[in-house]
Amino acid sequence: MLAELIDGARIARGVREDVARDVAALRARGVTPGLTVVLVGDDPASAVYVRSKGKACGEAGMASETIRLPATTTQEELLRHVDRLNADPKVHGILVQMPLPKHIDPDTVLRRLNPAKDVDGFHPINVGKLLIGEKDGFAPCTPAGVQEMLVRSGVDTRGMECVVIGRSNIVGKPMAALLMQDRKGANATVTICHRHTRDLAAHTRRADLVVAAAGRPGVLTRDMVKPGAVVIDVGITRVNDPTAKNGYRLVGDVDFAGVRQVASHITPVPGGVGPMTIAMLLRNTVKAASALEPA
Ligand SMILES: NC(=O)c1ccc[n+]([C@@H]2O[C@H](COP(=O)([O-])OP(=O)(O)OC[C@H]3O[C@@H](n4cnc5c(N)ncnc54)[C@H](OP(=O)(O)O)[C@@H]3O)[C@@H](O)[C@H]2O)c1
Repeated sequence: MLAELIDGARIARGVREDVARDVAALRARGVTPGLTVVLVGDDPASAVYVRSKGKACGEAGMASETIRLPATTTQEELLRHVDRLNADPKVHGILVQMPLPKHIDPDTVLRRLNPAKDVDGFHPINVGKLLIGEKDGFAPCTPAGVQEMLVRSGVDTRGMECVVIGRSNIVGKPMAALLMQDRKGANATVTICHRHTRDLAAHTRRADLVVAAAGRPGVLTRDMVKPGAVVIDVGITRVNDPTAKNGYRLVGDVDFAGVRQVASHITPVPGGVGPMTIAMLLRNTVKAASALEPA
């Protein structure tokens, strides 16, 4: 039997509707949640992400602003912008779009953000809160989106063997930290794999849930998946495709056609995890606004 598709676009719409309701409630007491995105340089992919974040904010009734800075901006100049946004009461969420130009140290910039406005969840304070299970921090949007999708799809992760492929700070590590917590949508037994993992297939074959976040198309194939497992594909890679309108298409890490034959649930690429990321960014911004402006 073919695996059931987890429709990220549909689930993300549900999250955004909930966010819009929360925004309306905040606006009714005079607070308009506001997200400011800082974009340095002219990376075309970043420009696309930033535009869709702004559009999503508008649709949810939130305020959004994009500060576009030239690639020649110095680190000191960028930090001055961050300081100003940290102090601006109308700004509840700040997101500095990565990657930054080579002469700017991303860690220095992330550490300068007010953790209470760090809606991307990358400041060490928020990373620590996630790990120790404190609920008032911000979890990074992509892994938080994966968890939300699992919950809304009725996948009960409690007691599951879960394998996360990838250990980046933005996806793999926070994904593992979320799944291991003692709470709803978690309580899994988690293994993290990376390029030095000796036998990846030996780990994935015993997993009830595999989250693939390696950025390597084909890293998970049918023979590596236990029948009935849940498979979440975070990977997004552009591959050349002369038949596609733009000359390329997006593929995930999972051999979708093969794995679909054995898994119980699977996310497609595109239309799986991708739409959840922005939905969770909106949710984090509303959470920031509620905390910064208590009723
Ligand atoms: N859907 C979304 O909204 C969204 C958001 C963020 C990222 N993504 C996508 O998710 C993917 C991962 O992103 P990222 O930022 O986490 O990437 P990253 O920083 O490049 O990390 C990739 C991780 O995968 C591991 N890895 C690579 N090849 C492997 C292999 N053959 N076997 C086992 N592990 C392997 C690497 O191991 P080492 O640590 O040993 O190098 C690394 O930990 C990318 O395709 C990215 O585009 C999607």
